[in-house]
Amino acid sequence: MFGFLLILFISQIISLSFCQCKIGTFIFENNEHWMQNKYFNVTCQRGRIQVLNCVTDRGTVLPVGTLPFIEDGIKYTCDPAEDSQDHSDYPENPFEGSGETEIVGDCENGNLEYEFHGFLVSCITNKILGCVNPKGQLIRHGYFVVKDKLLKFCKVYANGRKARIENKGCFNGSLIDSVANQIYHVPKYTIWSEGRLQLRCGDNGIQIYKCPLKDGKTIHTGSAWLDENNVLNVCR
Ligand SMILES: *[C@@H]1O[C@H](CO)[C@@H](O)[C@H](O)[C@H]1NC(C)=O
Ligand SMILES: *[C@@H]1O[C@H](CO)[C@@H](O)[C@H](O)[C@H]1NC(C)=O
Repeated sequence: MFGFLLILFISQIISLSFCQCKIGTFIFENNEHWMQNKYFNVTCQRGRIQVLNCVTDRGTVLPVGTLPFIEDGIKYTCDPAEDSQDHSDYPENPFEGSGETEIVGDCENGNLEYEFHGFLVSCITNKILGCVNPKGQLIRHGYFVVKDKLLKFCKVYANGRKARIENKGCFNGSLIDSVANQIYHVPKYTIWSEGRLQLRCGDNGIQIYKCPLKDGKTIHTGSAWLDENNVLNVCR
């Protein structure tokens, strides 16, 4: 269903002089094997790190060079390590520059869970529990509303290893209406009238689109005009 591609590669892993391999401050002996970046079973071969096999989130072992393998909606590809003699340090964040934010969960100090960018993660099970709405409530799977009536949908999948907040347009109901009720769901860019105002569902939720003028015409949001009494009016 989800075509997410998790490419397993470890080009950033650095080999070092002699027969040992060094990653950051860790030194590995020749022929020693260990799990690197969670998915890679690697070994040190005469100063170079080689991938022996990969292991998925669920524990399935993939030989190097297998065709893309899909499990729990995640697509795995187990590629051999690329040579990267020209780097001299193991980067702290392998996703650097890719637009991803990687955080080390705040699980110290006995925290049971931590929140980051609207997602709640359990420190006990190491799984994503769901999303957090602006009131601080946990949404495990379903609709929720953020500021200015923007409608979102929280999805947790891959057995709690992945989650997504999807944009679903706007919620046109009141506080007592159920967010799951589709009659209040308004697709993005819908424009409608309420009284003499025109409203629109945009990137920032439900906002005024046009204001009425005395002469029966309308004016766009962001506009200002002086009325017959020279009073400044702003449509916003
Ligand atoms: C890693 O590779 C070694 C050597 O092939 C093997 O003995 C070990 O079981 C592997 N570990 C995992 C978790 O696949
Ligand atoms: C939004 O709700 C108002 C008030 O209930 C209603 O008049 C209007 O038609 C609704 N707009 C849409 C696009 O559903």
